[in-house]
Amino acid sequence: MSDVVTITIDGVEIKAEKGQKILDAATKAGIYIPTLCNFEGVKPKGSCRICSVLVNGRPMTACTTPVSEGMVIENDTEYLNDLRKAIVEIMFVEGNHMCPVCERSGNCELQALAYRYLMMVPRFPYLFPTRDIDASHPKLIKDHDRCILCKRCIRAIQDENGKNFFAFKRRGYKVTINIDPSISEKMTDELAQKAMDVCPVGALIRKEKGYDVPIGKRKYDKVRIGNDIENKAKKEGVV
Ligand code: SF4
Ligand code: FES
Repeated sequence: MSDVVTITIDGVEIKAEKGQKILDAATKAGIYIPTLCNFEGVKPKGSCRICSVLVNGRPMTACTTPVSEGMVIENDTEYLNDLRKAIVEIMFVEGNHMCPVCERSGNCELQALAYRYLMMVPRFPYLFPTRDIDASHPKLIKDHDRCILCKRCIRAIQDENGKNFFAFKRRGYKVTINIDPSISEKMTDELAQKAMDVCPVGALIRKEKGYDVPIGKRKYDKVRIGNDIENKAKKEGVV
C-alpha cells in the first residue's frame, strides 16, 4: 500500500505522507495555515483552534488531524479567516496585552496574527482581568496578563528526566501557568531562554536580559507572519 496520499487544499492538489498532519503537509507544500499553540517538534494539542480548516465540510484542527486519501480541505476562505480573526480578538480581550511596552513586541505571534488579520477594535468587550506578574523565579518573569494558555512551555520544557518545569495551576478562568518549585532551581540559562522563545507571546520573559534587538528591527516588524509571506520575503532578500 502506498505511503503517499493526495489531498486538496483550496483546490490545489498536493501529496502528503500517510499519517502526516494536515498542517505539516500544508507547510511542506508552502501553504500557510496559522498556528499558535502548535510548536514544531512538540506533540500537537489542538487547544487554540486557530488552525481550524474545513475537512470535507467539517471543522477540524489542522495541527492534530492526519491526512487521508482524497481529503478536500478549505483553508484560506473568508469564513475561516474571520473565525481566526475572532480567535485572535478573543485572546486580546481576555487578557491584558499592552504591545507597546512588551519585550516580545515584534516577535510575538499573537500580535503578528492581529496584524495579519487586520484586527482593529475587537468585536468583543475587553474583560480587563486582574492578574499578577510573578517575578519570584530567579531566571524568568511570568506575566499572567499575556498568557494565552497554549501549553507550549509545558510540553517543550523538561529536565533531563523528562519532568515538566511548567504546569497549569487552578482551574477554569482562574487557571495560570506555574513553575514547579521542586525542580525550579535546576532551570539552566539555556532552558530559561528556550522557555521564552517557545512562548508565542510575552508571558515568559528572561530576567536581566532584553531589548538585544531594538523594536522596529524584530522578525514581524519586517515581515508579516505566515510561511507564504515569509518565504516570498526570503526569496526577495527582505529578511
Ligand atoms: S506561558 Fe507562554 S507558552 Fe506557556 S502557556 Fe502561557 S502563553 Fe503558552
Ligand atoms: S495550532 Fe492547531 S489548535 Fe492551536
